[in-house]
Amino acid sequence: MTSTSPLRVALAGLGTVGAGVIKLLDVNGELIARRAGRPIEIVAVSARDRAKDRGVDIARFDWVDDTAALAHRADADVVVELIGGSDGPALTLARATLAGGKGLVTANKAMMAHHGLELAEAAEAANAALKFEAAVAGGVPVIKGLREGAAANEIGRVYGILNGTCNFILTKMEAEGRDFADVLAEAQALGFAEADPSFDIDGVDASHKLSILASLAFGTRPAFDDVATGGIRHVLAADIAEAATLGYRIRLVGIAEAGPKGLFQRVHPHLVPLSHPLAHVSGALNAVVAEGNFVGRLLFQGAGAGDGPTASAVVADLIDIARDEFGPPYAMPAAQLTVLPPADSGERRGRAYLRFMVADRVGVLAEIAAAMRDAGVSIESLMQRGASADGSVLVAIVTHEGPERAVAQALEKLRGSQSLAGEPLWMHILG
Ligand code: NDP
Ligand code: HSE
Repeated sequence: MTSTSPLRVALAGLGTVGAGVIKLLDVNGELIARRAGRPIEIVAVSARDRAKDRGVDIARFDWVDDTAALAHRADADVVVELIGGSDGPALTLARATLAGGKGLVTANKAMMAHHGLELAEAAEAANAALKFEAAVAGGVPVIKGLREGAAANEIGRVYGILNGTCNFILTKMEAEGRDFADVLAEAQALGFAEADPSFDIDGVDASHKLSILASLAFGTRPAFDDVATGGIRHVLAADIAEAATLGYRIRLVGIAEAGPKGLFQRVHPHLVPLSHPLAHVSGALNAVVAEGNFVGRLLFQGAGAGDGPTASAVVADLIDIARDEFGPPYAMPAAQLTVLPPADSGERRGRAYLRFMVADRVGVLAEIAAAMRDAGVSIESLMQRGASADGSVLVAIVTHEGPERAVAQALEKLRGSQSLAGEPLWMHILG
């Protein structure tokens, strides 16, 4: 029988998301109590610096210096972990919480990507809740969507825009022609970026999320190490302009597919045709598409980062726990998750955008074209743009559809060529 006494919460981490959770419970507490059937009350909090101004009143909660001690408090039913980091204090707290039979809510995709299976096993053994809606796509209820709404389907493919910081940066670069570094600083100031923003811009954060989604969608064990990961660090304003003239927008897209050839998981910048819904996902929004065998194509979209949206997902998990509505974290017992071998990306077929910065001299285009021809890559179009400040020239190629292995071979042939100023950029074309 569901209790009507408050669900008592110990909160670890009082940064962007932690402070957001306190604000949300302050503003919507009464409504939430009606929906949950009982109030949700914070009893204790912990972070590094007790004196820091967080824009919320924390004096009313018991302050705990030793974060790990939250797991052992007799007056708390649930621990909310909002510290971050795959290991360290977050993992210590998570393990201790579940071992002690308390529920755990976390927004920590890095921890779930690396240790999700172990934590799910611990939760199941203790019959405790482990909920992580905020770990993927911020405020978008995609975990719930896959675990519950689409649970009757076999899902073959799940893909989308999974990092708000990158999407914010790409959108600003596109709209305002601003520099990458400028826009990153703005994303950080808005609280979107990870503590180490290279996790965002190098695609690691999106890969954490993709591995979680793939596990839920396909019923497979999380396999973060098998995600091929690339980021947006090397995307130039000139690439964005080139893509626009071709009818595309550049987005960091994560794609996971399960099939007879194994499990394919990749995060990479893609050219997305303007006709595709992902091309219209702007700013810090995220969007996830899941393809089920009975439901068809589902699209989940909304704010992927920031205090309010992420707090919304954290508190939604708390409401489920208050209602005593939780099941196995990955929608089926951890012991039933299967293992799929990683699929060979070389066999995938697709079109590619290849950008070279080259020396402005005779024979360079012929050298690139010869490498493509020798590897069997068919060129659909080739653009050359005037010299940049350092005298190099931009050459952009769009290929016809073909195996990715051939493109990799062509680029390998050009490796170390004196004609190239820097590494070529390879982006896949979606669809
Ligand atoms: P912040 O960096 O803003 O906050 C982290 C909090 O953890 C701070 O309060 C900090 O304390 C505390 N903390 C850090 N190290 C320790 C430690 N060793 N011991 C105790 N407390 C510690 O992070 P966010 O709020 O942005 O993110 C929290 C989690 O949510 C992360 O896992 C992140 O990936 C995830 N997330 C974030 C989103 C976002 O939009 N920001 C969206 C979705 C998920 P102090 O304040 O005293 O320094
Ligand atoms: N840094 C993450 C992002 C936060 O930008 O998407 C949300 O998970």
